Amino acid sequence: MYYKKLVAEDLYLSPIDVNDAPIFAKWFNNCDIAQMYSKGGLSDYFTEQKAREKLEQYISNNEYRFEVIRLSDDKPIGLFSINEVDMQNRTCRIGGFIGDEQNRGKGYGTQALKMICDMAFFAFGMRTIFTRVHSYNTPSLKTVNKVGFKKVGTLKDFIVFNNKFYDHLYFQLMPKDFYKNFTSYYKRGNNFSAHITDLLNRE
Ligand SMILES: CC(C)(COP(=O)(O)OP(=O)(O)OC[C@H]1O[C@@H](n2cnc3c(N)ncnc32)[C@H](O)[C@@H]1OP(=O)(O)O)[C@@H](O)C(=O)NCCC(=O)NCCS
Repeated sequence: MYYKKLVAEDLYLSPIDVNDAPIFAKWFNNCDIAQMYSKGGLSDYFTEQKAREKLEQYISNNEYRFEVIRLSDDKPIGLFSINEVDMQNRTCRIGGFIGDEQNRGKGYGTQALKMICDMAFFAFGMRTIFTRVHSYNTPSLKTVNKVGFKKVGTLKDFIVFNNKFYDHLYFQLMPKDFYKNFTSYYKRGNNFSAHITDLLNRE
């Protein structure tokens, strides 16, 4: 069962349905996801049972991971999450993936990234967000740039991919750089979010 926590454009974010464990097992075993999303987790031995346990762990740990569901047919197409939430400093890390190759390159990744950032700023009250990307992950680098993230750091030769060393890049997103491009996200009807307006005025 899916729930529309946040709806925008073609997608919505829903709490995870553990009955989707077979779909997640397929995604976690996907070569691109293993090599782009995690740190080379291709050798991880992912069964359906292990996927179910991982999803149950996400839920019981109160981790903020959301299934990305397509509005037109209510089909799950990916997972995006808000991690490492620091309530004192109001910071977090975001990440995610679009599971099946045929659903990539259609704009869904950019849409889902916008939604999870909006969720972090608007609903979680975060002040700033960071994310990490392997330097060889061109689609991800494009999506983070499109959404307004700025590169803030580099771990040199940190990732081994195809027997070569690659940098691991850190990006940070400030509310101003996000909402200046996506004003409709914080305007929400005729009402501006007080929290977002406050953040924008402080920068
Ligand atoms: C990274 C990812 C989330 C992007 O989502 P997506 O739906 O494929 O991306 P979009 O369709 O929104 O495209 C965003 C940009 O990337 C480009 N792009 C998409 N796939 C590409 C590819 N294979 N090669 C080069 N550019 C690509 C698009 O053309 C677009 O750029 P443009 O607007 O300049 O044309 C998705 O590809 C994915 O899940 N990959 C595997 C896991 C992963 O890398 N997760 C992120 C870890 S940080």
